[in-house]
Amino acid sequence: MNVTLRVWRQKDARSKGKMVDYKLQDIDEHMSFLEMLDVLNEQLTENGEEPVAFDSDCREGICGMCGVVINGIPHGRGQTTYQTTTCQLHMREFKDGDVIDVEPWRATAFPVIKDLVVDRTAFDRIIQAGGYISAPTGTAPEAHSTPVPKADADRAFDAATCIGCGACVAACPNGSAMLFTAAKITHLGSLPQGQPERRSRALGMVAQQDAEGFGNCTNIGECSAVCPKGIPLQFISRLNRDLWGALSTVDGKHLG
Ligand code: SF4
Ligand code: FES
Repeated sequence: MNVTLRVWRQKDARSKGKMVDYKLQDIDEHMSFLEMLDVLNEQLTENGEEPVAFDSDCREGICGMCGVVINGIPHGRGQTTYQTTTCQLHMREFKDGDVIDVEPWRATAFPVIKDLVVDRTAFDRIIQAGGYISAPTGTAPEAHSTPVPKADADRAFDAATCIGCGACVAACPNGSAMLFTAAKITHLGSLPQGQPERRSRALGMVAQQDAEGFGNCTNIGECSAVCPKGIPLQFISRLNRDLWGALSTVDGKHLG
């Protein structure tokens, strides 16, 4: 198949970017979107041009490194594929002759570093602000010493599938990170091991979101609609419940 790509090219964080057209011919429909970008880069390199910078690692939908906006939708969307990662989207989802727009995540808290690569270290700092548990080191405890109800374990597991890709932020008109943070808070807050820091976790992670420049959640739902792991909006309600509980009880004072 033949396609025309309109790719965001930006030399570095300070330069102004623009869309640049590239024509690709005889693309195998079974290639992944990233493999198609690899072909583009081989052509550019052979022609002595700068290849397009983009992130990827596992290419199996598990690491969260990849992510570009394809035709206006974070990670893109095919005729049969919804809520995917960019690496799991295949060219058979497009038609011969298609013109495909490829852009980086667009969010204040994710500044463009180069071309399609954005700085997502804001997510790391949100995790550092509370996305952990305190556990004694040493020999692993006996597996049955801390019983966990199945419903709680299932919820924690579902939340833990968030791969930190940032598509939720890119899709949100407010550039909000609430779905990402809610997934982490739901994961840890659903388990007994996550209870000691439950309140400080909600306070710390939400404060860090604000400090990084992410917007507020106004229940639009675009985040969940593009999330490759199907993290549901209800988890944001759990975050808000933990936050309200924390604000109500810090130092024994009602602050909320
Ligand atoms: S909530 Fe979904 S879209 Fe957001 S970072 Fe996690 S996996 Fe990616
Ligand atoms: S490259 Fe790892 S999720 Fe896409």
